[in-house]
Amino acid sequence: MTPDAQNPAVETFEDYQEASCSNPRADDRPIGALIAARLSRRETLLAGMAAIALGAPRQAEAAGPSTLGFKELPLGLDETHHVAEGYEARVLIRWGDKVLADAPALDVNKLTAPAQEKQFGYNCDYLGFHPLPRGSAASDHGLLVVNHEYVNSNLIFAGLGAGRAAAQKVSKEQAEVELAAHGLSVVEIRKTAGAWSVVEGGTYARRITGTTPMTISGPAAGHDKMKTSADPTGTRVLGMLNNCAGGMTPWGTVLTCEENFNGYFGGDAEKMPDAKLYKRYGVSKASWYSWVKHFDRFDVEKEPNEPNRFGWVVEFDPYDPASVPVKRTALGRFKHEGATYALAPDGRVVVYQGDDERGDYVYKFVTTGRFDPANRDANANLLDEGTLYVAQLADDGGVKWLPLLHGQGPLTAENGFASQADVLINTRGAADLLKATPMDRPEDVEANPATGTVFVMLTNNTSRKPEQVDKANPRTNNAHGHIVEIIPPKAGGKPDHAATEAKWSIFLLAGKPGIDAGARYHRMTSENGWLSCPDNCAFDAKGRIWIATDGAPAAAGIADGIWAADTTGYGRAMTRLFFQAPTGAEVCGPCFTPDDQTLFLAIQHPGEDPGSTFETPSTRWPDFRPDMPPRPSVVAVTRKGGGIIGS
Ligand code: FEO
Ligand code: CA
Ligand code: CA
Ligand code: CA
Repeated sequence: MTPDAQNPAVETFEDYQEASCSNPRADDRPIGALIAARLSRRETLLAGMAAIALGAPRQAEAAGPSTLGFKELPLGLDETHHVAEGYEARVLIRWGDKVLADAPALDVNKLTAPAQEKQFGYNCDYLGFHPLPRGSAASDHGLLVVNHEYVNSNLIFAGLGAGRAAAQKVSKEQAEVELAAHGLSVVEIRKTAGAWSVVEGGTYARRITGTTPMTISGPAAGHDKMKTSADPTGTRVLGMLNNCAGGMTPWGTVLTCEENFNGYFGGDAEKMPDAKLYKRYGVSKASWYSWVKHFDRFDVEKEPNEPNRFGWVVEFDPYDPASVPVKRTALGRFKHEGATYALAPDGRVVVYQGDDERGDYVYKFVTTGRFDPANRDANANLLDEGTLYVAQLADDGGVKWLPLLHGQGPLTAENGFASQADVLINTRGAADLLKATPMDRPEDVEANPATGTVFVMLTNNTSRKPEQVDKANPRTNNAHGHIVEIIPPKAGGKPDHAATEAKWSIFLLAGKPGIDAGARYHRMTSENGWLSCPDNCAFDAKGRIWIATDGAPAAAGIADGIWAADTTGYGRAMTRLFFQAPTGAEVCGPCFTPDDQTLFLAIQHPGEDPGSTFETPSTRWPDFRPDMPPRPSVVAVTRKGGGIIGS
């Protein structure tokens, strides 16, 4: 299960339900037409027919129903991965492979923390490709940045049994291995004769773990609630945890995002003075791991402020292996999925973020200063000053970005917000007071560089009640999730990502058309084209969306994978299956090289199936050796003979 699934509030796939519709609209149309997408099925069909009758999409249809040229995979589920015909998906790096030059070979029967600190970590999620040389558009040489979100104790240690219970049996020595398997890897990679490989002993190679020293900056740094006995200054912290997705900055640094940090902490949170704060963030006695038993800092009774030092966006420079990672508190504290940037026309940097929890919010941060493309150092602390906004999506199709600023509206001392630091440490509580729109678990929030519109992956939410339904989250028991598109206004002909208002529209409603209530795609989406639980996404240079899923209905014989679709023109929302993951795995971090000829994918938690153990896993992907458990790995997808992916 993913940490999302480890959250007791999050359920897995549920029974199919009745009724559906498809979405016939062709959508490079203006806002009025976009709003039509939120009408009922009958109205939507009529709107689509009207558009076709007007002849608008005819030209596009003549060019083919979709611009994607690959032959779709059939839906399925088995022990290995599959990619569309004519493509290759080669394993680039696996859990336990060498990252630092002096890393020992993986010995699965004798894992140690010192070895794991030099080896590729577990459960790869976010992927970022940073070209070498820096600032170039090189597509055959670069740094690959990979998050390691969490570990499956039951699949890395012998004798612990299956499922979540295994994590509770972990010894102190094993917990140290787990801390070392978290974090992030930087590896130098190169493509030679069409195939990617890791450059051994690359000078940029780096591991960041759950114990790597890092600093805390921005308005919450040094606040009393950030101080611990190990760090009376409130400005230094050991490690980052549950780094899920991420992003990069225009100056080439990495933004790696802490998500379900709450699960590592334990102790009697309910009896502590900060019980309310803990509760809003899910910190409770029910720790998911054994760490609380072995290390005082994970016990809130012993170190009540340690959880406040997690749940942040962490920035570091992958081109400098000695750079100290920085937790940038100005971007808010919550269960960050990712953090992706878009530039406003005036040069301010806008960072979009999702808080992955049922009923939580979509955020963006807008810097006060402007990006300076000529002076990299001048951008170094740009993310320490700016305004954090939370989104309110109205039923009339409007978006309001509400500023989370101490002293404004209800964010005052009498409501528990005596400073901007208080607002940021309890970002969720502040956003609650502003009446932000509770969403169906916001995962990636990412601007399409070709169109300037922003796509919000809403992975699922089976707990939305009928009275909680709104137009932007239109389904109760939303087991399959949906994708919302936010359309910023234009300034000087360019999308103004810094604007405080925008429009929104639904891109697709996931699930199986004809089976799941309200499932909605392009009307020509094939029987293999439907998907469940969108999580991460990437855009190619043509503006097409590549959607990675986490939570496909295994009970229905369907694996997670990658589905691609046009975002404009006739083929809009006509999703097609491109890649299928091995059983138990989600697909994360889709990432193109600048030339769109390689698509890197993170295959996370292969073998994470009920009953799966170290001794008898549900798959031994990718090695398929009887003495090797499954290994989370990055694969590089290329076209046989070369060429643009999906062209
Ligand atoms: Fe770690 Fe929101 O997925
Ligand atoms: Ca994950
Ligand atoms: Ca995710
Ligand atoms: Ca997820």
